[in-house]
Amino acid sequence: MDKLIITGGARLDGEIRISGAKNSALPILAATLLCNGPVTVANLPHLHDITTMIELFGRMGIEPVIDEKLSVEINPNTIKTLVAPYELVKTMRASILVLGPMVARFGYAEVALPGGCAIGSRPVDLHIRGLEAMGAVIDVEGGYIKAKAPEGGLKGANFFFDTVSVTGTENIMMAAALANGRSVLQNSAREPEVVDLANFLNAMGAKVSGAGTDTIIIDGVKELHPATYRVMPDRIETGTYLVAAAVTGGRVKVKDTDPTILEAVLEKLKEAGAEVTTGEDWIELNMHGKRPKAVNVRTAPYPAFPTDMQAQFISLNAIAEGTGAVIETIFENRFMHVYELHRMGAKIQVEGNTAIVTGTETLKGAPVMATDLRASASLVISALVAEGDTLIDRIYHIDRGYECIEEKLQMLGAKIRRVPG
Ligand code: EPU
Repeated sequence: MDKLIITGGARLDGEIRISGAKNSALPILAATLLCNGPVTVANLPHLHDITTMIELFGRMGIEPVIDEKLSVEINPNTIKTLVAPYELVKTMRASILVLGPMVARFGYAEVALPGGCAIGSRPVDLHIRGLEAMGAVIDVEGGYIKAKAPEGGLKGANFFFDTVSVTGTENIMMAAALANGRSVLQNSAREPEVVDLANFLNAMGAKVSGAGTDTIIIDGVKELHPATYRVMPDRIETGTYLVAAAVTGGRVKVKDTDPTILEAVLEKLKEAGAEVTTGEDWIELNMHGKRPKAVNVRTAPYPAFPTDMQAQFISLNAIAEGTGAVIETIFENRFMHVYELHRMGAKIQVEGNTAIVTGTETLKGAPVMATDLRASASLVISALVAEGDTLIDRIYHIDRGYECIEEKLQMLGAKIRRVPG
């Protein structure tokens, strides 16, 4: 297993390019299954989760054609089996995203039920109930969700999500695109990735409106036609590099991104004392050598502060001036990084869903272990300011969501290297 070794102390300074969004690319790849011909998706990030989705397509008999710039062409007409097997689903929960498209387009799907996860229980009951509302008959048997569309196909439905769910909204929106009649999805997730997916569906001829609000209306169409689509930039990757620069007192310009999709994060960075300037597709953060001030953060569905940036802000608070409270309201077990940060000298107290972080002037390098994707990002951020070397184990978690993290950080002047293990 590869490890990262980071020698802390370098003040980050430079420019990097932001990759396509993982959490947009995954549902968009799943949505290609709805099309009646070959679809091209561009700006895919080079990430392990994307490879897993492509492998899943391979298992179903679809051979995606990938060019050197990681554009992928997918022809869903070559599908041979309607099964997403457990070996793949257990490595990536987002595999559940093929459920809605497969039932809608092919009338049947078998998708392994994702189990528990390092950050919480993460049930998929809403995905199942949404499809049932559209007339699908669903049995959960032998660890698999077996879903069958009614005679004549799925029917448009009114569905209310009792919890805001990103992939739940995406799954039902994709299924509704090919259902008979109108679907109205209430209490939908408003995340920019949901909007990106809706734009992709519309590019293929779907009739989706209201994405980005809590009510999405989908008028089902008979078929979707081929299109070429470019995935939006990754707002969490963007935010992670901004925090990395902030903790080191440095400066970073992130390019090929979109400042309008992470306003809650930019506000908190300004509150922490950063100078933030933005253009149409770039953001520059400058700390002018200052130590950040601690901030209070409460995660909630978009447009509020994202849970996927919570761990990074715990790292920011850990070296900030003052004390900050970080409240996690989305996942029940998303503080695993805290116990690793303790090993580096961070002063963090967890009580229920709240972490009280008291900033200290210095952290100390230590061997630590990555437990999930965003937790790993927080370990990297803390290592950048810690005295001495930090050895981060289990970095396969990082490779799921951060494209070329060590190259990008090296371009900003960080002392980071990967060691095969
Ligand atoms: N929930 C239910 N029932 C369901 C679905 C969700 O109770 O059927 C609950 C979850 O247990 C959780 C809450 O609803 O408490 C919100 O979960 P959501 O369904 O929104 O999460 P997700 O769709 O599984 C996506 C991202 C996550 C991100 C969350 C929250 C993708 C592929 N994943 O997950 O990304 O944290 O939304 O914004 O889009 C990451 O990139 O590191 C990551 C974990």
